[in-house]
Amino acid sequence: MDQYQIRGGRPLSGRVEIHGAKNSVLPMLASTLLHHGVSVLHNCPRLSDVDASLAILRHLGCRVNREGDVVTVDAATVGRWDIPDALMREMRSSVLFLGAILARTGRADVSMPGGCELGPRPIDLHLAALQRLGASMEQQGGRLICTRGDQLHGAEIDLSLPSVGATENAMLAAVGASGRTVIRNAAREPEIVDLARFLRGMGARVCGEGSSTLVVEGKVPLHDSDYRVMGDRIVAATYLSAVAAAGGEAELTGVDPSQFASVVALLRQGGAEVRCRPDSVWIRSTPPLSGVGCIRTAPYPGFPTDAQPVVMAALCRSRGTTVFVETMFENRYRHVDELCRMGANIRAEGRVAVVTGVDRLHGAPVQAHDLRGGGALCVAALGAEGETAVTGLNHIRRGYASLVEDLSALGADIREVNE
Ligand code: EPZ
Repeated sequence: MDQYQIRGGRPLSGRVEIHGAKNSVLPMLASTLLHHGVSVLHNCPRLSDVDASLAILRHLGCRVNREGDVVTVDAATVGRWDIPDALMREMRSSVLFLGAILARTGRADVSMPGGCELGPRPIDLHLAALQRLGASMEQQGGRLICTRGDQLHGAEIDLSLPSVGATENAMLAAVGASGRTVIRNAAREPEIVDLARFLRGMGARVCGEGSSTLVVEGKVPLHDSDYRVMGDRIVAATYLSAVAAAGGEAELTGVDPSQFASVVALLRQGGAEVRCRPDSVWIRSTPPLSGVGCIRTAPYPGFPTDAQPVVMAALCRSRGTTVFVETMFENRYRHVDELCRMGANIRAEGRVAVVTGVDRLHGAPVQAHDLRGGGALCVAALGAEGETAVTGLNHIRRGYASLVEDLSALGADIREVNE
């Protein structure tokens, strides 16, 4: 079984360029269907979720080419509107294609996305938004069949939750709807802002991104475009947490730290020194951190749920206690048992996890059960004495394009062993 072998206990030092943001590029790839032409994405990370999205685009009839971090999609001829079950299951975020397929072809035939490692992942808000825009849909044998996509019209959409995915699906369908669409209680995440900029780059008329109210003027002519994806703020949060766990200093470039200001604030509160520039962040830390009281995850600009596992890993070795409250997903503490195998003292009960700092962690064989939980195990391993073997790399490869290369550049003793 493939594994990362990590020998911890030594401080990190160096500089790393952060790769493009997974949660930006996935909706952007779906958006390429909206234009009967060519879209070029720069800084597109090499991730299994990106590969799955490219496979879906090819299945639908697009010509897709990848050279390094540049992906070119030619959506001139799209002849299908279905996503096969196997492709839907490969990536939960395939649901992001629903609005774009519907707007492009007038219909869609996808399997209902199951839950994932984080718990049930409902899409009721996605479907309600598309119905507001005029789509009709029915479920048949685990498939979702949507029609009337050729008659989408502008609407007022009020999201009961600022869902990132539902906001994105509504935005993409609204680009293909005739008239004005207003989306209220929209997600404000930086990835939504990045997506809006990408859509404007292809000629779409979208405004309000970053606020809770988005306005889209649909059915405007679109054109070929060329766009650079923003840096991945969660990968940056992971590497900051790695330095906080192991000690040392590092500079991360190609990322805007204002997009994860809540993570920076907590690491500073824990005793790390962090300096921010518009497109880079520098950290210096001498373990152990201090406990930081209570961390509640919340929609942006609150503390990001995706950073919860990696910051928890950094706080395993700390003076004092930190209480985590995970408000976004039901089952996002699957890394806790694995961290405890390394000597961490964590009690998780429902949505709450109490981390009582310990003086030291020791290496152990541990398994990733989800993407960011896998990142957390690598963070903890860098601050642990001895060797840790991390398995479950299939999860980690979904969102970290160059973990071994990047951490090695920071001086970590990490290697991938393929058995
Ligand atoms: C996006 O997931 C991200 N994924 C997640 O990152 C991230 O954790 C999440 O947003 C929150 O920031 C991508 O962008 C591909 P939501 P998404 O809809 O869109 C509930 C990672 O590690 N909800 O904002 O699925 C839902 O159950 C991943 O990169 C409904 O009830 O998140 C959750 O409790 C993990 N009905 C809450 O809203 C719906 O129709 C927030 O989910 C949709 C969501």
